[in-house]
Amino acid sequence: MKTIGVLTSGGDAPGMNAAVRAAVRTATGKGLNVLGIRRGYMGLIEKDVFPIDLRDVSDIIHRGGTYLYTARCPEFRTEEGLQKAVANCKELGIDGIVCIGGDGTFRGARDLSERGIPCIGVPATIDNDIACTDYTIGFDTALNTCMEMVDRLRDTSQSHERCSVVEVMGRGAGYLALHSGIAVGATSIIVEEEKCDIKNDVIDRIKLMKESGKQHFIVIVSEAIGNVDRLAAQIEAETGIESRATILGHVQRGGTPTVRDRVAASEMGYHAVELLSKGIGNRVVAERKNEIVDFDIFEALQMKKPFQNELYKIAHKIST
Ligand code: F6P
Repeated sequence: MKTIGVLTSGGDAPGMNAAVRAAVRTATGKGLNVLGIRRGYMGLIEKDVFPIDLRDVSDIIHRGGTYLYTARCPEFRTEEGLQKAVANCKELGIDGIVCIGGDGTFRGARDLSERGIPCIGVPATIDNDIACTDYTIGFDTALNTCMEMVDRLRDTSQSHERCSVVEVMGRGAGYLALHSGIAVGATSIIVEEEKCDIKNDVIDRIKLMKESGKQHFIVIVSEAIGNVDRLAAQIEAETGIESRATILGHVQRGGTPTVRDRVAASEMGYHAVELLSKGIGNRVVAERKNEIVDFDIFEALQMKKPFQNELYKIAHKIST
């Protein structure tokens, strides 16, 4: 192993830069050359790469987004695209790649590994929806952003004695909704993983709480459920409480990474290069019970992540 490539792919997540930095510094410390690959797998197909030295990654640990840029690349999902990427790796002398991103990124890493380019996946997505790992880089920062935004909504909601219905991201997963919902003391949290009867679990709950003196309400809705405008209108019609819907959107993906994300990214980026430098590929780095471990990519992609049903029940019980 003489030269490694580093790429970020899929939705950006705060802490990706810290992972790139750790991978670059670990590699240069071992005397390896590093090539930065721009825009994920697209850069591999288009040969859009540049050499990175240890000083080039100074001053990025605190930056959100990804300085390598990112993209979703449909061409890479075709055999032709993959073959082009493999041929380019050979031509550019890329012996292995650190692939930072989510499930889609890992599928690309698996496909390249199967075609002779060893890859290591590093989990980075605000959704925390990767089954093999307890934690994905970016989750904590996104949660803190959700919390801060909803705290602001709470101020206006409280002043007008309204109900705020807030949609948070997460793609198909409810982790962002559950954790941010707990952090803001939401009246109800609606996620796809848990059955929710709008009449019982939202409307009647708000009515009951109103009777006991509560004057403003927050309902957190996972984007997989959506329809926050309709829900706000229903709440207003059935409870008589003025309601407003807010979609937090891409603001959740930005911002300076928290300590949690910088540390996780640093550990994971380091671990990825440790594996590659030993000639090990086709693995995904993960955090399990506060330990950094790794799994075969194929196995990692087969795993199912259980939802935190107990935590959901607790949230429901304490927000009365
Ligand atoms: O996977 C991260 C994520 O932000 C999801 O929460 C969301 O569903 C999706 O990406 C949005 O993707 P895009 O940036 O392409 O709109």
